[in-house]
Amino acid sequence: MLLTIDTSPPAARWMKDSLDRSAFHRTIPVVAARLSAVKMGSVLKAEVMRGLIINLPKVRTVVTDPEYPDSETKLILLRVQHEVDLTAASRSYLESQNASLTTYNIELDYNYWTADEILHAILPEELLDGSPTGFSMMGHLAHLNLNDEYLPYKHIIGQVILDKNKRLRTVVNKLDSIDTQFRFFKMELLAGEPNYVVEHSESDCRFKFDFSRVYWNSRLQTEHARLVNMFQPDEVVADVFAGVGPFALPAAKKGCAVLANDLNPESYKYLAMNVKNNKVSDRVRASCEDGREFIRHAATRLAADPMPGFLGPSLSQSQRRVLSQQQYPTSQPPPRQRIAHFVMNLPDSAITFLDAFRGILASSSSSSSPSSKSAIDLAVLYDVMPMVHCHCFTRESEREAAERDILHRVEQRLGCVLSAENEVGLHLVRSVAPNKEMYCISFRLPHATAFEELPPSEPIPQ
Ligand SMILES: C[S@@+](CC[C@H](N)C(=O)[O-])C[C@H]1O[C@@H](n2cnc3c(N)ncnc32)[C@H](O)[C@@H]1O
Repeated sequence: MLLTIDTSPPAARWMKDSLDRSAFHRTIPVVAARLSAVKMGSVLKAEVMRGLIINLPKVRTVVTDPEYPDSETKLILLRVQHEVDLTAASRSYLESQNASLTTYNIELDYNYWTADEILHAILPEELLDGSPTGFSMMGHLAHLNLNDEYLPYKHIIGQVILDKNKRLRTVVNKLDSIDTQFRFFKMELLAGEPNYVVEHSESDCRFKFDFSRVYWNSRLQTEHARLVNMFQPDEVVADVFAGVGPFALPAAKKGCAVLANDLNPESYKYLAMNVKNNKVSDRVRASCEDGREFIRHAATRLAADPMPGFLGPSLSQSQRRVLSQQQYPTSQPPPRQRIAHFVMNLPDSAITFLDAFRGILASSSSSSSPSSKSAIDLAVLYDVMPMVHCHCFTRESEREAAERDILHRVEQRLGCVLSAENEVGLHLVRSVAPNKEMYCISFRLPHATAFEELPPSEPIPQ
């Protein structure tokens, strides 16, 4: 009878508060054939031995003989537990090779099993259907989002995940609360070092940030790439809620000039650091102000103080060599004065900021802006209106209802109806929770909104 070896770890359902690695030990006795080392190759390949040689992950088939460690004999481990379970043919074949049979103890310990296997041995039976071992990873830090039923075991879960993933040094669990203003997750240390400053790569850029004090969501990687793909390298992008730069930096790397803003001073600090570290200081202007103020002044400030012209993407030396045949402007290109895209990823409330676009290009706005040097004709500069990419949530799960709901809220804030000339597009970014979908609505800013002459006394609706 062939052995179906049970290699699962011993159950340890009494463990709750802390991990006892020594509880995970299992001895599995198997039959082994003692053979001269020179015969090993042919015996392992012999047809008659097929299916009889042990094949367990991380367990060697040929081992040193513990009884005769210095002899030239070795042991082949077999998949049976008793000699009588060997087939007659295999027994006589092994005899013909001068093999003798013995018992060998396979010793498995904590290091042998995966995180899932260890946790299956610890967690109560009723929790065994799911697995709490999923996490997102930022640099050396793993971020878990444990369901309530796993919370009594959170420190053990954290420790097992830390042990089993060599690149990790810190494991945290997301807490229910989120910082309402700056959107970063509150978290609790489960295992490892209390070090939340991580270094993480996305879209060929290096990001450094304190995950306990700024917003970062690795699930948005595709969305970051999707928008950056839309930008032309010679365009100017204004990122109203830039965080630590996941839109701004890749856009700058491809050549865009970027105005990147975030109100969280910690985000601004790491944004500025990341701009420097990724060597795009010449094409990113970072700021730390309220999004509404940023929107109101971005166009007039840029017109008065343009960004350098497009000189080609930011390339490594090797990329430069490969692309040396391509033609990028060599003479001084014209400075960039016109914003082509506004990015607004603050889905909880970005739509409520849209009224800040009212009148941003109006003559009253350009002449009253503190940074305008002289009368800049924004009407001439903005012969093409900027695209606005505004992220938002909706409770509507049906596409058409979601579209109606989002469009209605956007139009209310803009103070006008969007039509075909506004090139409206709606993109489902992800389902965040039941009845909570995240969308990005993109549209060309209506001329009437941007050039609306607001009476000086009329306050901008909040
Ligand atoms: C959802 S995060 C997006 C960050 C980044 N763009 C990304 O895609 O990962 C929103 C950002 O908006 C910033 N924020 C919140 N309120 C703001 C405001 N009134 N003005 C400017 N930035 C704000 C937060 O600090 C946070 O970094």
